[in-house]
Amino acid sequence: LLMSFIILIIICLSMPSCSMQEKEYSTIIPQVQEIQHAASYFNLNDFKLYADENALATAELLALELERLEYKQDTIHSFEDPIELNSLNLLIDTSLNENTEYYELSIKSDFILIKGASREGLIHGLYSLIQLIPRSYGIVDSKLACVSIKDYPKFKWRGMLLDCCRHFMEVDFVKRYIDLLAFHKMNVLHWHLTEDQGWRIEINQYPKLTEVGAWRTEKDGSRYGGFYSQEQIKEVIAYASQRGIAVIPEIELPGHSVAALAAYPEYSCTGGPFEVETDWGVFKDVYCAGNDSTFAFLENILDEVIELFPSEYIHIGGDESPKFRWEHCAKCQKRIADEGLHNEHELQSYFIQRIENYINSKGKKLIGWDEILEGGLADGATVQSWRGFEGAAEAAKTGHDAIVSPTSHAYFDYGLEATDLEKVYSFNPIPEGLTDEEAKHIIGGECNMWTERAPQNTIDSKVFPRILAMSEILWNYPTDRNYDAFYDRVQNHYKRLDKLGVEYGLETIPVHYSSDYVNGQFMVTLKPGSKDLEIQYQINEGEVFQYDSTFSVSGTNHIIAWATKGLKSYGEAFETDLYQHKGIEATISGLNEYYKGYAGGGDYCIADGLRGTTNFRDGRWQGYSGQDFTATLSFDSIQKVDSVLSSFFQYNLSWIFMPTKITVYTSVDGKSYYNRAELEPQILAKAEGEFFEEFILTFPEVEAKYIKIKAENYGKCPDWHPAAGSDAWLFVDEVRVY
Ligand code: ACM
Ligand code: ZN
Repeated sequence: LLMSFIILIIICLSMPSCSMQEKEYSTIIPQVQEIQHAASYFNLNDFKLYADENALATAELLALELERLEYKQDTIHSFEDPIELNSLNLLIDTSLNENTEYYELSIKSDFILIKGASREGLIHGLYSLIQLIPRSYGIVDSKLACVSIKDYPKFKWRGMLLDCCRHFMEVDFVKRYIDLLAFHKMNVLHWHLTEDQGWRIEINQYPKLTEVGAWRTEKDGSRYGGFYSQEQIKEVIAYASQRGIAVIPEIELPGHSVAALAAYPEYSCTGGPFEVETDWGVFKDVYCAGNDSTFAFLENILDEVIELFPSEYIHIGGDESPKFRWEHCAKCQKRIADEGLHNEHELQSYFIQRIENYINSKGKKLIGWDEILEGGLADGATVQSWRGFEGAAEAAKTGHDAIVSPTSHAYFDYGLEATDLEKVYSFNPIPEGLTDEEAKHIIGGECNMWTERAPQNTIDSKVFPRILAMSEILWNYPTDRNYDAFYDRVQNHYKRLDKLGVEYGLETIPVHYSSDYVNGQFMVTLKPGSKDLEIQYQINEGEVFQYDSTFSVSGTNHIIAWATKGLKSYGEAFETDLYQHKGIEATISGLNEYYKGYAGGGDYCIADGLRGTTNFRDGRWQGYSGQDFTATLSFDSIQKVDSVLSSFFQYNLSWIFMPTKITVYTSVDGKSYYNRAELEPQILAKAEGEFFEEFILTFPEVEAKYIKIKAENYGKCPDWHPAAGSDAWLFVDEVRVY
């Protein structure tokens, strides 16, 4: 042992700046599968570029990337065996590995050799090399440390969805994202091209799709829109192909199709007219499933899409398609009868299967969101699971491929309070409970960048740094996740992102707040979002304290806390009111089943002193789909009570409505309850926007050991609503008792 210790020391001493090398030179993201370091350098000041004939296109890409780092190469020479001195060589060797994305990168003092098992593999090797070059992280030093890398991805589908409909993204911006995806060894751009709010792909046979469907009149009267000509689409596809990225078009059907129906209302159930939508949400006007001409229309569109996109797959959406119009359409009902279907879910399945047959007949495969499972899945369809992991599990168990992009880990339009870097790094695309055989159907994952609230200039800050975690999970699939080590590598990687001009956002919210109620006081804990953040806080705008450990407060207080990283402030301050009231001491029972994605922290949090905020995804709101909110607060002893307050949220475009009525009952024995107060909401169901309303129910003071509150769910989204007929949500937080 002593001997090996001595040898180790000698090795380290003989390596100039061993630890520096470890830290700075080997921190590729996504992390490579195998790397060995050596003690010497390749000199980047003087070398020539060589490529095998089949690697020429990749060599051109490398020349472009090297030029960006000021290592311009004028010529690409034919590869020579034996390898020349001072050379950078690219080879494709299909016998190298079964995994076609496999590559080997050797940096030796005399030469660099990148071998790929395919062009894709070679491109991955190219970007590993680029990431290792000091100038890529802003250090002007032409000494490139010697390493030997063997690397390959775990998952073959490593994608990012870019929604270019809610907000339009310029061609150059899309290309820039292709560069950024390739840099991080992602290989799929899922291009969301059609939506309620805009149709973005030119279709020659139906010019109105872009003349009408690509433009919307915003509420302030301004026009917003844009589309990609077929020439531009070809340009983007070619650009992506050179970088090893497949571009998968998404043409949404039967729902999310209002922009198309605004142009061609004859393919709806009602005949319209429609306007390109300006609100966000889910809309009830969808393609008519009873009309054969609708299918002809869609098939003609798909013909042009298939002609343009060389991808193996076509994504047809399939999500969030309300059944309301189909329920009330004679043609759709006739289709249900003629085809022997049982309901509108089976009609959706009929719709998708008919489209799938068409796509298959053109030699392409279909992908759809997990709703395509409802009413029976088309045979060869690939499912993209977004409402959790269940869709992926069900697909895999029935022998279908699945792409996993759950809202919990993969929705980068969500804020950091819902999905921070650490959460993304904990993503496991393989759902629990699958056999090894079934797990093979999990072909990978995607991060989804929906853009309702994200114009082009904000995309970087939402995608980065979270995509770094996604790329590492999908590529390296580390079995022992070490978030701290990953976090440290991300800090180094920022220098590369700086060089690329990426305007990355934060890793995490600055402050994680929690409070417990102990012996009549709140014990408040503030946890920094990451290890190098410091927190300061202030209570009721008083003295500023440096946070070091849990502190106590009582009564009702306003707490502000903020973080700094180094000397710079990090993100926005956290603010909350904390209410001391009688309900906190009560035991809660009698809740209906709330949705686990909107648990609000669990039963207890209905009365924990914290009120939901104006962000309904803040983790405090408890959400009930189609159900009433009922709760019984039980006390150990008789209390004197004269008011009960409760807060609700409304955002009708997310199907969240105020309760229709709230009633408070009290009891001393838990058997006989007395109705003490009732209230109806001030906010109208139809009101546009997001609303917070606190209901204050007061009554002459009574003695009570039990308090029951009931808030009645709005029921179904009404006829005027875009999702008419769907279950309404009820969002509740903090029942305060005084
Ligand atoms: C989706 O987020 N509606 C797929
Ligand atoms: Zn119809």
